[in-house]
Formats: sequence, C-alpha cells, structure tokens
Amino acid sequence: MLSNIAQKMLLKIGPETAHDLMILGLKKTCNTPLANLYRQNLSSKPLSVMGLEFPNRVGLAAGLDKNGEAIDAFYDMGFGHVEIGTVTPRAQPGNPKPRIFRIPEKKAIINRMGFNNQGIERVLCNLSKKKTEGIVGINIGKNRNTPLEKSTEDYLFCLDQVYPFASYVTVNISSPNTPELRSLQFGSFLSELLSRLKERQDELANRYDRYVPLVIKIAPDLNISEIKSISEAVLEINLDGIIATNTTVDHSPVVDFKHSKEEGGLSGAPLFESSIKVISALYKLLGNKIPIIGVGGIMTAEDAEKIFSSGAKLIQIYSGFIYHGPNLIKRINSLDD
Ligand SMILES: Cc1cc2nc3c(=O)[nH]c(=O)nc-3n(C[C@H](O)[C@H](O)[C@H](O)COP(=O)(O)O)c2cc1C
Repeated sequence: MLSNIAQKMLLKIGPETAHDLMILGLKKTCNTPLANLYRQNLSSKPLSVMGLEFPNRVGLAAGLDKNGEAIDAFYDMGFGHVEIGTVTPRAQPGNPKPRIFRIPEKKAIINRMGFNNQGIERVLCNLSKKKTEGIVGINIGKNRNTPLEKSTEDYLFCLDQVYPFASYVTVNISSPNTPELRSLQFGSFLSELLSRLKERQDELANRYDRYVPLVIKIAPDLNISEIKSISEAVLEINLDGIIATNTTVDHSPVVDFKHSKEEGGLSGAPLFESSIKVISALYKLLGNKIPIIGVGGIMTAEDAEKIFSSGAKLIQIYSGFIYHGPNLIKRINSLDD
C-alpha cells in the first residue's frame, strides 16, 4: 500500500516535520479520491463499550491529531475510534522545539510537546468539518499557565464546550510535560476534580438529553497503592472508563541510546511492560465494572492480544502507528479472524 511507503519516508525526516507533513497530507486528501491511497476496508467487529457502538477495538491515541484536522482520514485507515486533543481552553504553543525524539533501535519516542494546540474554539471548528460518522473522543487538559488550584475550572470549561460534539471525553491528568499536572491523580485533587466533573456531566446530560461518557487517562508511573486509590475514586464517582497509560518518565529502558537523556515522556515498545502492569492491576481492582482502554507500547498484534487478555476492552496506538503505519491497525483487527 502506498501509505506504507509514505510512512517509511516520513521516518527518514525530523519527527515533528514528519508529523506536520502527515497531518497536512491527510487533511488535504481525506474526502477526495486520494484517500484511496490509505483506505483500508477492515472486517467489521462491532462491540459496545460505555454505551457506545465501536466498529472495532483499535483506536488512535490522543496527541497525534491534537487539533482534530484529519479525523476522516484516520477512520479511512480503519481506526474504530479517534481521540483528538489534548485540547486546552486557550491556544498555546507548547515547549520550544526540538521536542520529539525518535529512538528507532528501541521503537521508542520521547516527547515533551507540552499540550501545543489551537485552543478549544478552533478545534471544535475543525471537528465540525468532519464528514464521516464515527466515534470521536475529545481529550481535555489545562493551560500551562493555569495554577494547579484552578485546574478544575479549565477542565469544567473544556467539558462544557466539547460535550455536545464528543462521543466521549477524556480527562488527561497524566501528561509529564505540563508542570504538576500529574499531581491531579492523587488524593483530594483527584476526588475534587472527578466529583465536580461528574456533577457537570450529569447537568450536561440533562441539558442536551444525551449522556457522554467521561474517562480519565492515567500515567504508567504509579505504584500499586496509587493505582488502588485511583480505582477507588473512579468506582466511588462512577466514572465511565479509564485509559491506561500515558507516556512514562522512566527512561531506563532506553539508557545508552541517543536521546535517552532528553526530558519528556517515553512511549513505544519500552513502555509496554509498565502499561500492561498498570492495566492488569486495574482489572484486578475494577473487574468489568469500569471498562479499561489499554494504550502503551502496542507495536504488534501479539502485544494487542496480551493487552486484551489483561483486561482492556479497547486499545489505542500512537508509536506503533508511527513505526509500522496503518498496516498495524489491520493486523490487530485480524486477530479474531
Ligand atoms: C508526540 C506525542 C504526543 C502526545 N500527546 C498526547 C496528548 O496530547 N495527550 C495525551 O493524552 N497523550 C498524548 N500522548 C500519549 C499517547 O496518547 C499514548 O498514551 C502514549 O504515547 C503511549 O502509547 P504508545 O506507546 O502507543 O505511543 C502523546 C504521545 C506522543 C508520542
């Protein structure tokens, strides 16, 4: 498939330029005959999770299409859902470049993008141009210059804005690239944030007469007692789902490789062990009460199989897509053929 050749060529140029070119190329070609270059007609494997009907179990993880510019193209490739964002109330530039680094020997990426995005208003305008029916998750975060104590206001603002347009909403409290963000995963910060969001979700469900599931996305760098407290909070508040995991701050699996000392979150193959541990621990605590969406280091169909076996109902990929292209979606989707 031509898209696999394009993907190999993109791996030869700088990661952020490659990313921007890919999004631009997809944005320009989706909904035109050129979309046939990457369209994959996968067998339908519908399943119901969080009250939503997913066409298959493989989704695009947040961060690739932060501004929701090429959603139709990702559906064409066969993704069963696309998560856009992280989007913040106001547009922000993110960290200075360079801020994405590939470690090809380890099929890994380190990034410290820092929630660069066009801001909620513009992202919703992009989303309104989407032509294909499909599941779209909107991942929300706080602006970098919003103090931690005021972060709930940013999340509530985002929830209000995105609610009518999202299939589900993800509360990102686990990016390592926004100072202090990950402290929202703990103690009173977490319970206050989740209970305020849940309350607002109920109000919005009444207002729009439509229930939009709310999920949180957590880090892989959590110990068992932290995973336990998060599970308790999620159960108590009756959240709709949990995405595990974001990138890791532990760079030890890539030490000795070029870029290993770059600050930021590590993703790709070396993340797999940590994310599957978190998913397994969550599943032991939550069982089938709260669905888990597994993400982190899924580079092959076998990895995906292991994540499903450890309890995830759906999966998402980012780095696997960068290194293996749309073919990976097809291989994972063929698992039960
Ligand atoms: C360059 C880059 C940017 C990312 N941006 C976001 C983001 O904005 N929000 C988010 O929740 N996760 C973000 N992620 C994390 C991914 O969604 C995913 O959780 C993580 O990369 C682990 O999956 P993977 O090993 O398949 O890449 C980003 C990852 C990368 C590599």
